[in-house]
Parts: sequence; C-alpha cells; structure tokens
Amino acid sequence: MSVLFYYFLQVTRTRLMPDCALREETHYLSMVVLLAVLLLLSYGAGHIHCSTVRHGNRTEVHSLLEFKAATNDPTGALRSWNRRVHYCNWTGVTCSSMKPGRVIALRLPGQSLSGEITPSIGNLTYLKALNLSSNGFSGQLPPLNLLHEVIHLELSSNSFHGIIPDSLMNCSKLLILDLSSNMLQGPIPKKIGLLYNLLGLGLSRNKLTGIIPPTISNATHLQILFLQENELGGSIPDVFGQLSNLIKLDLTYNNLQGDLC
Ligand SMILES: *[C@@H]1O[C@H](CO)[C@@H](O)[C@H](O)[C@H]1NC(C)=O
Ligand SMILES: *[C@@H]1O[C@H](CO)[C@@H](O)[C@H](O)[C@H]1NC(C)=O
Ligand SMILES: *[C@@H]1O[C@H](CO)[C@@H](O)[C@H](O)[C@H]1NC(C)=O
Ligand SMILES: *[C@@H]1O[C@H](CO)[C@@H](O)[C@H](O)[C@H]1NC(C)=O
Ligand SMILES: *[C@@H]1O[C@H](CO)[C@@H](O)[C@H](O)[C@H]1NC(C)=O
Ligand SMILES: *[C@@H]1O[C@H](CO)[C@@H](O)[C@H](O)[C@H]1NC(C)=O
Repeated sequence: MSVLFYYFLQVTRTRLMPDCALREETHYLSMVVLLAVLLLLSYGAGHIHCSTVRHGNRTEVHSLLEFKAATNDPTGALRSWNRRVHYCNWTGVTCSSMKPGRVIALRLPGQSLSGEITPSIGNLTYLKALNLSSNGFSGQLPPLNLLHEVIHLELSSNSFHGIIPDSLMNCSKLLILDLSSNMLQGPIPKKIGLLYNLLGLGLSRNKLTGIIPPTISNATHLQILFLQENELGGSIPDVFGQLSNLIKLDLTYNNLQGDLC
C-alpha cells in the first residue's frame, strides 16, 4: 500500500542530519561549555539566559520533546533529538523555509518506535506531512484536528485501536490518509466526505464495521481506495460510478453485498 502512495509523494524529502559526526565533538564541546560556564560564573554574570530555541518556536520544540518523552526508542532513532542540535535538524523533522522554525514534516517510518503518541503532536499546526508508518505505536489516534495544513497522513502498520475520530475530518486538505494495518474499530465516519481532496484512502486491515458511507462519493478525485480486510457490511453503495478517477479499489474480505456499478 505504502508503495502505491509513494507515487504521490511530491513534497520535499527530509534531509537527514548525519548525527554520528556530532558524537566525536561532544566531548570536546562539553569541555569548552564547562569552561565557558565557569568563566561566566566567575565574572558573576547575573542572567545566564538559556535561549535554546533561537530562530524557533517554543510550541513546536515543546510538542516534539513531549512526543519524544512518551516514545520508546530502542534503536536510538531519536538520538539527534537533543538540545545540542536545533530541532529543525533533528532526524525526521523538516522545517519550513518560508516560516523558519515551523515544523512542516515529521517522518519517522520503520524506526521501531512504540508507545502512545502524545496529543502535543496535534499542536504542530503547520505540519503538512506526518509519516509514522511501520512502527509499534499504540493507543488511540492522537487528536489531529488542528492540523489544517496536513496533506499526507500515514500511520499505517502500527497498533492503533479505538475509532477513527470525526475530528480528523477537519483536515480537509488531506490528499493521502493511510491508517491501514492497525486495529481500528467502529464505523468509517460519515463525515469522510469532508475530505473531498483525497487522492488515496487506505483503511484496509483493521476491524472497521458498519457500512461504506455514501458520502465518500464527495471525494471525487479519489484514485486509490483500499478498504479490504475489515468487517464492513451492508450493500456496496451506488457511488463508485461517480468516483471516475478511481484506478485502484479493493473491498475484498468484508461482509459486503451486491455488485459494483
Ligand atoms: C511513509 O514512509 C514509507 C516508508 O518510507 C513510504 O513508503 C511511504 O510512501 C511514506 N508515505 C507518505 C505518505 O509519505
Ligand atoms: C509560536 O507558536 C505559537 C502557536 O502557534 C504562536 O502563538 C506564537 O506566536 C509563536 N511564537 C513565535 C515567536 O513565533
Ligand atoms: C542544520 O544543520 C546544517 C548543517 O549542519 C546547518 O547549516 C544549519 O544551520 C542547521 N540549521 C539550524 C536551524 O540550526
Ligand atoms: C497546545 O498548545 C497550546 C497553546 O500553546 C497549549 O496551551 C496546550 O497545552 C498544548 N497542548 C498540548 C497537548 O501540548
Ligand atoms: C472543525 O472545523 C469546524 C469548522 O472549521 C470547527 O467549527 C470545529 O470546531 C472543528 N472541530 C474540531 C474538532 O476541531
Ligand atoms: C463535499 O465537498 C464540499 C467541497 O467540495 C464540501 O463543502 C461539503 O461539505 C462536502 N459534503 C459532504 C457531505 O461531506
């Protein structure tokens, strides 16, 4: 599924920071810092203002640090996420060039990360791409209703459970929503039609029940729709004729009745 969505990826790729080089310098650096601090203290500097967030935004760095604190990271994928490195250079983080300090992408697929995603991620309001696929994240989907700019949301192949919240339907710029291969339950929200820009929707391999909401026909640009391996029922809605851009559709392994027309 991810491979198919790859086709749509036009957003700039994260430039990963080679953080290995840093370790060499760390020892030397900490000596220098220690000396500097001692010097400052001996001069009786009253205010040592800790301005770790130069050219940045406290909300953004705070949201990321909360995410890190709640995440199990057995392979050290978030090693570079420390105060010595500007957060815009942390592994997986991309900041805007137009609005310095604003995080526009967080991409950490396949990094063996686990735990519950903190709600703070929902405060990265400039985010355009969130890709945490193929990790071990669990719990409910975090609140993402403030992410009005998000166009790629990929949380597939994790262990999320609970429902798909209606509030997610506020992310109306979404082009790709991939929540496949989790343990999501309950219905596909009727409000799915609010995601009228969607090109790809992947909800396969969950435990979704109920019908396929006919409002899905509102997403007229839809090219890929994967709903297979759920527990969807009822009759196949009479809408696929309207989705004239559809090139890949999979509804298999459900309890659906009727034919496609
Ligand atoms: C997310 O990451 C996976 C693995 O690198 C990739 O295959 C997929 O295309 C990415 N999806 C998006 C929407 O960026
Ligand atoms: C940081 O972000 C918050 C929330 O988006 C905003 O209210 C605040 O003005 C920003 N601060 C700076 C210095 O850009
Ligand atoms: C990120 O790292 C690059 C290369 O080391 C550096 O040129 C740039 O100034 C850093 N960005 C920030 C915001 O610190
Ligand atoms: C989100 O940001 C707002 C305003 O900066 C703050 O009051 C709130 O606690 C933050 N929420 C989370 C979950 O971090
Ligand atoms: C969704 O967007 C609507 C209109 O923009 C707003 O009234 C509503 O409060 C939003 N809901 C959430 C959960 O953010
Ligand atoms: C259908 O999409 C339009 C935008 O094209 C939107 O304004 C409307 O609310 C959507 N309707 C439903 C039922 O989701």
